[in-house]
Amino acid sequence: MKEFKDRVAVITGAASGIGLGLAKRCVREGMRVVLADVEQTALEQAEKELAAMGGNVLAVLTDVAKVDQVESLARKTMDTFGAVHLLCNNAGVGAGESIWESSLTDWEWVIGVNLWGVIHGLRAFVPIMLSQDTEGHIVNTASVAGLLPFHPCAAYQVTKHAVVGLSENLSASLARRGAKIKASVLCPGFVKTRITNSARNRPEELKSDSSEAPVSPEMEEAIWADIQAQFKVISPEQVADAVFAAIREERLYILTHPDLNEIVRKRLEDILSGTV
Ligand SMILES: NC(=O)c1ccc[n+]([C@@H]2O[C@H](COP(=O)([O-])OP(=O)(O)OC[C@H]3O[C@@H](n4cnc5c(N)ncnc54)[C@H](O)[C@@H]3O)[C@@H](O)[C@H]2O)c1
Repeated sequence: MKEFKDRVAVITGAASGIGLGLAKRCVREGMRVVLADVEQTALEQAEKELAAMGGNVLAVLTDVAKVDQVESLARKTMDTFGAVHLLCNNAGVGAGESIWESSLTDWEWVIGVNLWGVIHGLRAFVPIMLSQDTEGHIVNTASVAGLLPFHPCAAYQVTKHAVVGLSENLSASLARRGAKIKASVLCPGFVKTRITNSARNRPEELKSDSSEAPVSPEMEEAIWADIQAQFKVISPEQVADAVFAAIREERLYILTHPDLNEIVRKRLEDILSGTV
């Protein structure tokens, strides 16, 4: 997809971080944008910010883990803008620790948002996009954690590996049909967002005694200062640049941290050689 002006983008997790960065970029490209997010106040704020930039935007309060809400998002998108050209399945959360130390609700919440959210998005929107018979693109946000052998949050790693596989399957399935829609999987390293405070959006019914509590803005900054002291951290705007370059080039994999490529390469070599 090379033309963006007046095309329609749907972005989940659009009220913050990478999703908001993508939404701003879509507005700058002259697209009409549907913002979907579960956090109402942040969503309203994002809608105002994008409208002030001159954007033609629709905000839809949506929990991507709930199939009926994603189907409703698709209906509202079509009722308002009549088409979808760019779909960014981006909403995501992190919680839990090792496989056995994570609670059952940690697993359910992370799988619900990070994996079912993407599946619901694809099932609701791909048939619409195929029926339009116009150029289109789908970007699923995974993580470099979806390409690496270890992440301290097991459920996060598992869902991100799944989103890489899902996106590869999507890309191949679309190509086999000769569809005009292409797919990419976004695999960033650290990006300065509010992901470290994912707990702010955890539903009551998926909390347990061991769930992390939401943290203060000061604590979020302290966590990021600690991460930045150890790792390369980029901005959502830099991610949006990488995503739009990949869409224009019809590239499947979007890696944003060249410093992590060696670890990815080593995992692939370990798989082929059978070593650990
Ligand atoms: N920040 C990073 O370092 C990093 C690295 C790799 C991948 N990612 C991925 O990027 C994506 C975006 O995260 P971010 O870093 O911008 O974090 P963020 O917390 O700033 O933004 C995530 C957005 O998703 C929304 N959200 C959470 N649960 C939702 C639900 N059930 N339904 C709809 N929206 C929901 C949140 O309200 C928030 O607006 C996630 O999939 C995350 O896993 C982030």
